[in-house]
Amino acid sequence: MSNSTIPFANYQSLSDEACQARILAAKASLGKRLVILGHHYQRSDVFQHADFTGDSLKLSRLAANSEADYIVFCGVHFMAEVADILSRPEQISILPDLAAGCSMADMATLARVERAWRELKAACDPDAVFTPVTYINSAADLKAFCGEHGGIVCTSSNAPKILEWSFAQREKVLFFPDQHLGRWSGYKMGIPLDEMVMWDWDLPLGGLTPEQISKARIILWKGLCSVHQMFQPQHIQRFREAHPDGLVISHPECSFEVCRESDFVGSTEYIIKTIAEAKPGTHWLVGTEFNLVNRLAEQFKDQGKTVQFMASTVCMCSTMARIDPQHLAWCLENLVAGQVVNRIAVPPGEAALARVALQRMLDAS
Ligand code: 13P
Ligand code: SF4
Repeated sequence: MSNSTIPFANYQSLSDEACQARILAAKASLGKRLVILGHHYQRSDVFQHADFTGDSLKLSRLAANSEADYIVFCGVHFMAEVADILSRPEQISILPDLAAGCSMADMATLARVERAWRELKAACDPDAVFTPVTYINSAADLKAFCGEHGGIVCTSSNAPKILEWSFAQREKVLFFPDQHLGRWSGYKMGIPLDEMVMWDWDLPLGGLTPEQISKARIILWKGLCSVHQMFQPQHIQRFREAHPDGLVISHPECSFEVCRESDFVGSTEYIIKTIAEAKPGTHWLVGTEFNLVNRLAEQFKDQGKTVQFMASTVCMCSTMARIDPQHLAWCLENLVAGQVVNRIAVPPGEAALARVALQRMLDAS
């Protein structure tokens, strides 16, 4: 066991192949002390090393139930934060590259949400009227805000159910940061589109009037995912012209128009399950991140299913892609040497409040 960490510079010029062998050796050496969780958008040369894979909801449950000393999260920053919040204090959550963030999560900062909450006081008492709901794609301090203000966390797989819970608490919802997930989930619950208004954080009172706020059932934050906004209804129209029997499936981070034109809408785990259970010979157009779609195309081609990416240009989650074999090998070999690099540790007070909002979600979903 050494006293100093092995620098990342030692790994920068290692080939992917050399990293693969070293990752396998480090995993064997750490045994049950280590669990690697991998999100479906990870590149294949990292994804193949995950002990468990899943969407955000499944991965947060796995993190909550893990017995390992080290939870290495091949995903993005908010996922490793959730793992830290839901695991025991002595367990260590690690993100192989700290630059692996989520651009959508960054669109809702605590300062902006607190300002919105203050400004809403011009129209009502937000603590009596609004349940704050944060998509899991958000920083821990926003989950803590929800914990403190009677709110909750949701994921792409449970958002309508979480909205039901939220409306059972208070008459309105402030939903951040993803406008598209909020709008689609509200629409699926039967809320008219004109009762969902958008909050622009750059404008006073979000660009809304007190009357608009009092009529609204959901206020949607203006955030979005830069990857999923690339998918367009024209992509679906062209596919349907070429494949009249084809099926379209999209992630709810896609625009409302794309979701409405799709046959199925759901989380990454739902997309995988739906295509896995489909009949051989079916033809699919998929509106979600490229690495996952590519993997599905490979996985199901032997069953005669064709799986096609929705956009004409490749759109990848560039932050997720920062987790590469070099960073994974670096983290794991440091652990073998008794050193922890890239620990994600949410401050205890914030973690306690965030856990309240996450636990409400786990109980309600
Ligand atoms: P899932 O929870 O559906 O895996 O989605 C996470 C995500 O970030 C999609 O962009
Ligand atoms: Fe965030 Fe979009 Fe990447 Fe998902 S795909 S992690 S929402 S930037």
